[in-house]
Amino acid sequence: MKTLIRNGRIVTATDDYHADLLIVDGVIEQIGKALSAEADREIDAAGLLVLPGGIDAHTHFDMPFGGTTSSDDFLTGTRAAAFGGTTTIVDFAIQQRGQSVKYAFDTWLAKAEGKATIDYGFHMILSEVTPEILHDMQTMIDQGITSFKMFTAYPGVFMVDDGGIFKALQRAAEIGGLIAMHAENGSVIDVLVEQALAQGHTAPKYHALTRPPEAEAEATHRGIVLASLANAPLYIVHLSSYHALDEVTAARDRGQLVFAETCPQYLFLSYENYEEPGFEGAKYVMSPPLRPKEHQAKLWRGLKSNDLQVVSTDHCPFCVKEQKALGRDNFAKIPNGAPGVETRMGLIYDGGVAQQRLSLNRFVEITATAPAKLLGMFPKKGTIAVGSDGDIVLFDPNGTTHWSVKTAHMRVDYNPYEGRTTAGAVRMVLSRGEVIVDGETFLGRPGRGNFLKRSTFKHP
Ligand code: URP
Ligand code: ZN
Ligand code: ZN
Repeated sequence: MKTLIRNGRIVTATDDYHADLLIVDGVIEQIGKALSAEADREIDAAGLLVLPGGIDAHTHFDMPFGGTTSSDDFLTGTRAAAFGGTTTIVDFAIQQRGQSVKYAFDTWLAKAEGKATIDYGFHMILSEVTPEILHDMQTMIDQGITSFKMFTAYPGVFMVDDGGIFKALQRAAEIGGLIAMHAENGSVIDVLVEQALAQGHTAPKYHALTRPPEAEAEATHRGIVLASLANAPLYIVHLSSYHALDEVTAARDRGQLVFAETCPQYLFLSYENYEEPGFEGAKYVMSPPLRPKEHQAKLWRGLKSNDLQVVSTDHCPFCVKEQKALGRDNFAKIPNGAPGVETRMGLIYDGGVAQQRLSLNRFVEITATAPAKLLGMFPKKGTIAVGSDGDIVLFDPNGTTHWSVKTAHMRVDYNPYEGRTTAGAVRMVLSRGEVIVDGETFLGRPGRGNFLKRSTFKHP
């Protein structure tokens, strides 16, 4: 199968030029001016940006959490991702206490196989650290799961003590793994939650008030120190506050291999959303929580200065009616998470490029190239080059996108960005050379997505 994209403006993390692009059997074979190749399908991309497909390094499809399960599965979630210009996701398999990582991997493969419409990898959540788990980290790396998420939050569920985290960091350093850390001080947060509830504070906003940025900064600092002691690289997930960013920046300035992602919700939404009337604030209950508005400019600056390297989504949707409602009388029972896999590329193009905070190259870097490099998928994914997969987004810089739950493809009953219009529009999406989104039409077959065996960590 040969697909030829003509007349487009190809933009990567480093380049920006007009050329034609030939994809043969899923892989980019030629890039050049006025290519003379014959093709099964020719696409005219005049006036459009030809971008590498987005990579969302942090999704939770079909995830059991907070007494329920995230509402998108690998079919609806990857389809929504594709509509938003994302062609690769990295989801999280969960090693529950008492279970093996092998069992977790098989469980998550079964969730994805036959459903995923784009390529996908897995991080492995480690809920405990035992000799068997430490041994099996190598088994996971051999299978292409090369990053491991660890929590300093959610005591009794996911939280591992400092000794356990330290052992996993040492092991990761030894075998080329990367520890991805959810950094919030879970023990302190549990005390604050207990005290808030004892005072009768049950509304959604208390979720944010009991998870202060200092609790995020402390755990970020701790993770950085443990990683330094273990001589291991560290990747901080869903960084939300400038307090935590300051810790990452200081570590990077010292030369430590510390990397971090933030998410659109921390750049576009704020604590004020928790004060929406009634139970509306529950829509934004996620961890870490949304922060006061003054954090946003500092996070954008971190993206520009490369103190933050990646924008992922932490897509973890729960319907308000049946799922968020579990915490109507107690904010601590509201399932944590929000939708975002479809809105990421459009929002970051708008807030970054259109609003002149970031260059187009930097937009590509933080949404595709950097996650591909940090998570062992580059150059197969994350760029447009001969030999890379033909994962391409045709993006119209002169279009606009209107965001609403009515038009979104995520399987959830609200859109955190309801009513916004952003600059730019995804017109067409190709995954390994196959057109999977053409305007409003989805053409990807469930199950066509491949599991990605990712490489070990290399300093990008
Ligand atoms: O609130 C969140 N972030 N839910 C998803 C799980 C996690 O910690 O990433
Ligand atoms: Zn997390
Ligand atoms: Zn997450």
